[in-house]
Parts: sequence; structure tokens; C-alpha cells
Amino acid sequence: MCASRNRTGVDVPVITVDGPSGSGKGTISQCLAEKLGWHHLDSGALYRLLAYAALQQAVPLDDEEALVQLAGQLSKSYQLPTSEQPAIMLDGKDVGLDLRTETCAAAASRTAALPAVRQALLAWQRHYRQSPGLIADGRDMGTTVFPDATLKLYLTARAEVRAERRYNQLKHKGINVDLGVLVKEVEARDLRDSSRKASPLMPADDAVILDNSDQDEALTLQQVLQAVHEAL
Ligand code: DC
Repeated sequence: MCASRNRTGVDVPVITVDGPSGSGKGTISQCLAEKLGWHHLDSGALYRLLAYAALQQAVPLDDEEALVQLAGQLSKSYQLPTSEQPAIMLDGKDVGLDLRTETCAAAASRTAALPAVRQALLAWQRHYRQSPGLIADGRDMGTTVFPDATLKLYLTARAEVRAERRYNQLKHKGINVDLGVLVKEVEARDLRDSSRKASPLMPADDAVILDNSDQDEALTLQQVLQAVHEAL
């Protein structure tokens, strides 16, 4: 392993965890970050933050120039979770729950398709590469943001399975939704994320692909830890 002391830079190791929503990459990434004692970047939260701020300020979701300007302002006023401060803060307010809504997710998927928006968020994301290491989860971590990552994982599952996971999460929170509608939403978001021109959702050529449709989280974590063990 090529870890360095207290600095930001390309010699700090990165493990990327990409995949569609509901593939379990968030949970797996958090577990990995805790086990290794590394930083964790939830890049989707950055896209959601920008979309949330755009909705709040009535910035049109297709106005690239205005969104890039908004990203510049946001970069000074947000805070992603750390082990000391676990909330996602925007202008001093905890916006964690606001970012998890389907409205915000759909808006994030639209703004994320704009090349200038992706470019604007690139430097933010690379800033998280700090010693002793980074677990970066998202859609294009292995293909675009950290192409030199030590290990690239791509987690996936069938759309119906991912929609059902989301359905169970919402039901658990007392929110009633139609499973059929959720499947359609998941498929629409997959299509938008994977068919866009700028950094589409896809595994890097050198990614380890794990389909967890028919297995539980414990087994996926075991497979991921095995891949990490072999790579570091
Ligand atoms: O992972 P998530 O559901 O929080 O992501 C929200 C949206 O942001 C998703 O629809 C696609 C976009 N996104 C992206 O395009 N690239 C990333 N690296 C992370 C998220």
C-alpha cells in the first residue's frame, strides 16, 4: 500500500465503489471506510446538494451556467459528514433528510447529466483524497474522478431487486409507495444515468463487478473485503 502521511495527493490510495442506486454501495463504502480507518466520499450527496439548492432557489435544472455558479457558492457553505460531525450541513442547517427525497434524487439525476456541472464538481471530489486513504462512492469514481484508484469495485443488482429494497426502506419509515411505480422510477433513473454523454454510469474496464441481486449484505461485504485484501 502506498499511503502517505497527512497530505492530499495522488499518492494517497483510493478505493472506488460505483454502481446504480440501491446496489448497496453506500453501506458497503461506509463499512469499508470504518474498517480501514479511511475517509469516505459520498459523491451522490454532492450532486443531491446542488440539486436541492437549485430547487430551493428556483434555478432551472437545465441552466448549466447558473448551476455552475451555484456550485461555486455552495462549495463555501456545505459540509459533508465526518466521524466527528455526522450530518450533511448547508448554511448551518442539517439537510440530510431533504437530500434523500425522490424529488431531490430525480433533480440530481437531471443536473448530473450536464457536462459543466460534472466538471464543476470534479475538484471538490478530488479534494477528499486525503491520507491515510479514501473510499469514494458514486457513478464515475473509477472511470473519471479517480482513474488511478488502487481498487475499483462496481456493485449492481437487478432493477426490481433495488426497487424492492427502496420500497422496504420507505415502508420501514412509515411511507407508503407503490412498488410498481418505484420500479419504473429506478429504471428511468438508471437509463438517464447510464445513457448520458458525460461520465455515464458504467464499470471501469478494470473494475471488479459484483452483482448482489441474490445475496445478502454480509456476503457482499465478505467478497468486497476479499478483493480489498488482494489489492492492498
Ligand atoms: O448515489 P445517489 O443516489 O445519491 O446519486 C444521486 C444522483 O446523482 C444520481 O441519480 C446520479 C448522480 N450522481 C452522478 O451522476 N455521479 C456520481 N458520482 C454520483 C451521483
